[in-house]
Amino acid sequence: MDKPRVFIARYIPEEYLAQVRQACQVDLWPEDLPPPPDTLRQRVRGVDGILSLLTDKIDAAVMDAAGGNLKVISNCAVGFDNIDVSEATRRGIPVGNTPGVLTDTTADFAFALLMAAARRVVEAHNFTRAGRWETWGLTQLLGQDVAGATLGIIGFGRIGRAVARRALGFEMRILYYDPICEDDPYAAQIGAHCVDLDTILRHSDFLSLHVPLYKETYHLIGEAELAKMKPTAVLINTARGGVVDHEALYRALRDGVIAYAALDVTEPEPIPKHHPLLTLENIIIAPHIASASVRTRGRMIEIALANLLAGVRGEQLPHCVNPQVYMTDLE
Ligand code: DGY
Repeated sequence: MDKPRVFIARYIPEEYLAQVRQACQVDLWPEDLPPPPDTLRQRVRGVDGILSLLTDKIDAAVMDAAGGNLKVISNCAVGFDNIDVSEATRRGIPVGNTPGVLTDTTADFAFALLMAAARRVVEAHNFTRAGRWETWGLTQLLGQDVAGATLGIIGFGRIGRAVARRALGFEMRILYYDPICEDDPYAAQIGAHCVDLDTILRHSDFLSLHVPLYKETYHLIGEAELAKMKPTAVLINTARGGVVDHEALYRALRDGVIAYAALDVTEPEPIPKHHPLLTLENIIIAPHIASASVRTRGRMIEIALANLLAGVRGEQLPHCVNPQVYMTDLE
């Protein structure tokens, strides 16, 4: 019997691929940049499984191109807003993701951005590099204290909680906003307070975003929300770029409505080279690297390959975002 065919949409080091090569015919996209959409549609023709990255849009057209053999879409990310999951579910195709393994790594980076923005680390480095360090200046490059400040966390899931744990070490007061607020024993244990959106915007010195991108969270932070924040506030986004309205953020940073922003994610990605946000001093923008540690990226690859293999074998995915596809008795 022919081995199942899989398309892996990005270069993955050979050391991870032994098992999947043994079980499948592998078509591996060899580049660091994603396959263009029309190439993606060509390469997935007739495959049993697709391993995608968050840069690959997997919509009905890609599923149509793959055809009736397609048994699994395995995304090498915890987020899956690049995939039309309801369309996959309608077709009975399980979609996999990589939760858990990147929680601490992403929370570390959110906190790194928070600290870097608070103490203007990137500006200070650029200042020194430009040869502008002439003396110890009493009022030079003043930042904001993190210790004792109020941290607002929007989205109190795995990563939001991991950020809260880090904040405890800095004796921060922790507020959070989440649809599931009541009776959260973990929040009670660490002394985090659930508040409404208005309160978190008005009271946070640092506001860190940890919600998935859904139509309900698209531009959750826009002009009206920024206007409620403190003029000294710092906004940190390691979730998805679409959660923040970038035009409104640009105006808010330019006009001193808030003090600083630190983004790991933008809309679109990559951020266009001439985007007005890149002209500002009071912003840090990283190229979506919050989960980019050697260990974590290795684990993400392993989980994505395990999901892929399970899917082509007709087994339940170890991490499935649409488990409804297995509830055949509901049909
Ligand atoms: C994810 O896995 O969704 C992250 O954004 C990758 O860093």
